[in-house]
Amino acid sequence: MSGHATYEFKNPIVRWIEARLPIFSVMKAQAMDFPTPRNLNYWWTFGGIAATMLVMQILTGIVLVMHYTPHVSMAFDSVEGIMRDVNYGWLIRWLHANGASFFFIAVYIHMFRGLYYGSYKAPREVLWMIGVLIFLAMMATAFMGYVLPWGQMSYWGAVVITNLFSAIPVVGDPIVQWLWGGFSVGNPTLQRFFSLHYLLPFVLAALVFLHIWALHVVGNNNPDGIDVKSEQDTLPFHPFYTMKDLYAILVFFLVYLAFVFYSPWYLGHAINFAKADPMVTPPHIVPEWYFLPFYAMLRAVPDKLGGVVVMFASIIILFFLPWLDRSPVRSARYRPLYRFFFWLLVIDGIFLGIVGSQPPEGWWIPAGRIATTWYFIHFLVVLPLLSQIERPKPMPASITEAVLSRGGH
Ligand code: HEM
Repeated sequence: MSGHATYEFKNPIVRWIEARLPIFSVMKAQAMDFPTPRNLNYWWTFGGIAATMLVMQILTGIVLVMHYTPHVSMAFDSVEGIMRDVNYGWLIRWLHANGASFFFIAVYIHMFRGLYYGSYKAPREVLWMIGVLIFLAMMATAFMGYVLPWGQMSYWGAVVITNLFSAIPVVGDPIVQWLWGGFSVGNPTLQRFFSLHYLLPFVLAALVFLHIWALHVVGNNNPDGIDVKSEQDTLPFHPFYTMKDLYAILVFFLVYLAFVFYSPWYLGHAINFAKADPMVTPPHIVPEWYFLPFYAMLRAVPDKLGGVVVMFASIIILFFLPWLDRSPVRSARYRPLYRFFFWLLVIDGIFLGIVGSQPPEGWWIPAGRIATTWYFIHFLVVLPLLSQIERPKPMPASITEAVLSRGGH
């Protein structure tokens, strides 16, 4: 690790601290000198964008909590108070609510980047698996956060999702009551969701730390999927990738802030502006857009337990991805068949999202079943089969050669 322990800092205070806790040399080695492949494209900026969104969520969340009251009789009104009476409360709330959506946009792009370029393959399996854990923690955090404003969709979303656990044989009902802290979704439920919604982002931050630690042990993959062979293949992270990441973060924020300022309700549901009412079931209970593909899979199976199993399996399967795809070639750039099936999976995912947003009737029912089945076929049949039969395209000898052959510098 260049710079570590051998570098002499000039500032005497830095030198004093460094002799007792070598934090500056670690930062210099890991955040500045870190050798990074020279061919990374803009898809590699989404990890940094996701990290920025996590920080945004924590900061805006901490301010929201200063005015929010986690009690069934006050939660909804306290959120209205934030919107109307707190100075810039509307801004903090819309940054946080839309921030959740944009956090998911960044992470979905980040994950599909990993799928396209084979970033989950050796030696990055643990890095990938920590990523899947992060994804699970994000979903739990977002679900519980949505319940907090105690609107109609908050309440009924919580009812539908917590009730899923009742499908577990024998212990299902006791588990649901234990989750609720009572005999229905009520005040204890809201308070524990609040507690966990505050806690989980810090768990997420710790997981992200491990994620980046694992990344820095094995180094970045890259769009050609070829290992780094010489110093020529890399650039120091600073200033090359700090600047590139910063630029991408700014462009991403332009879109995010356009939603916050011009269309803050676009991604939400109008019915959540009505206070939770256990006596009135909304005609159409749908989760936020980022859960829709999973909601479609849940409803694709006619049996309740079956639906729950399929939905969880769709994420658990990602842990096994490094062993389902055995092809020695990482990047889809050199895997024409894999590239085709990758795009088919993207279309399948978007289509599942559309199915999830529709009432489960008529034509949507078989459509959801076919799309769900394809999701599993992709991972369990297509990937192992491709590893056997695909003939990859010829690969450049090194990252440098790949860059220069495309007219790069
Ligand atoms: C809070 C969410 C996340 C944050 C902040 C985060 C952060 C990062 C950062 C900063 C990098 C290095 C830059 C880059 O490659 O974009 C990275 C790499 C990576 N991440 Fe994540 N990540 C998150 C979620 C995930 C998830 C959900 C997965 C997969 C399920 C994942 C899989 C990976 C992989 C495989 C790499 C290595 C990529 C490569 O070098 O090609 N990450 N992550």
